[in-house]
Amino acid sequence: MEELNHFLENSREEIQKANDLRALDSLRVLYLGKKGEVTQLLKKLSEIPENQRAAEGKRVNLLKNELKKLIEARKKELHELEIEERLVEEKIDVTLPGRRSGSGGLHPITRTIERMEDFFVSLGFEVVEGPEIEDDYHNFGALNIPEHHPARAMHDTFYINSSSVLRTHTSPVQVRVMENRKPPLRVICPGRVYRCDSDLTHSPMFHQVEGLFIDQRCSLGQLKGLIQDFLQSFFEKEDLSVRFRPSYFPFTEPSAEVDIQCVKCSGEGCRICSRTGWLEVMGCGMVNPKVFDNCGIDRNRFSGFAFGMGVERLAMLRYGINDLRLNFDNDLRFLSQFS
Ligand code: FA5
Ligand code: MG
Repeated sequence: MEELNHFLENSREEIQKANDLRALDSLRVLYLGKKGEVTQLLKKLSEIPENQRAAEGKRVNLLKNELKKLIEARKKELHELEIEERLVEEKIDVTLPGRRSGSGGLHPITRTIERMEDFFVSLGFEVVEGPEIEDDYHNFGALNIPEHHPARAMHDTFYINSSSVLRTHTSPVQVRVMENRKPPLRVICPGRVYRCDSDLTHSPMFHQVEGLFIDQRCSLGQLKGLIQDFLQSFFEKEDLSVRFRPSYFPFTEPSAEVDIQCVKCSGEGCRICSRTGWLEVMGCGMVNPKVFDNCGIDRNRFSGFAFGMGVERLAMLRYGINDLRLNFDNDLRFLSQFS
């Protein structure tokens, strides 16, 4: 009996010392396995005198059960320890700041259009849009550019078929507004336009913002004042040099093109301004009475002015972009400078 107690005490210590599941399992095999020490003891029972056998057998069985319990208990302990360790190891500080994903920004052309709209809307103009695939009549005919008129050649038109074109300017939207509404009118029409043209300052798809103002009495002076105010506000520069250069558009009379002093070289002459010191940003003029006739507006009661500006040119000058085509390359290194 003493021997068994001694054995139990020893085993208890060993089991407690086992510090992983594998060591514990080795002990289980050592004590309780087929060739284990307790199994051997049970086998030896037959050698004991019969009158002591039952009592001895009972003791060995008690020992066996006790060992099983100890092993189970240690197993549970080890399991919990393992979980605790993992919890410490895998601890996450949820209060640490997360990784930010970069946020996008508006395209410089979108920003520029919105900036232009804000100026004119604050003066009571309304924003109107029209189709990009336009019929010959609205793009040309109604604007006093009949077939075979030399002005057509200036537009480098993309024809879809003999009667439809990709609009070459936003002026057809003027026509649609005049056809459908009664004066007084104050609208601006932003949108994409297309011409077969590509270099540093021209791209085959670009944007214009058209403006149309019709009332009972309109003057060239009002047009000049409005454009000057707009350009000074757009470039945030009160001393911006602006010039009105006489020009020709079949749909306005008189007509002018508006140049601003090259923002890149301040008028010295550079690649962007073709060494002239000036950059053309828009065309404008007093609405030609023939256009009023085409659109059903009484030329004796009303007069008006119109203008059409190149959005990319204005964006280039405002942001110092030296190649207009960069706007359409979708290069993130370029675009992210505007976010
Ligand atoms: C016109 O398109 C006229 N419809 C403007 C107008 C409207 C005149 C109303 C009178 C009354 P123009 O072809 O000059 O005009 O173009 C206007 C502006 O668009 C130019 O000043 C320029 O800034 C811009 N532009 C012209 N072609 C291109 C191009 N290929 N790429 C980028 N911008 C261009
Ligand atoms: Mg022009």
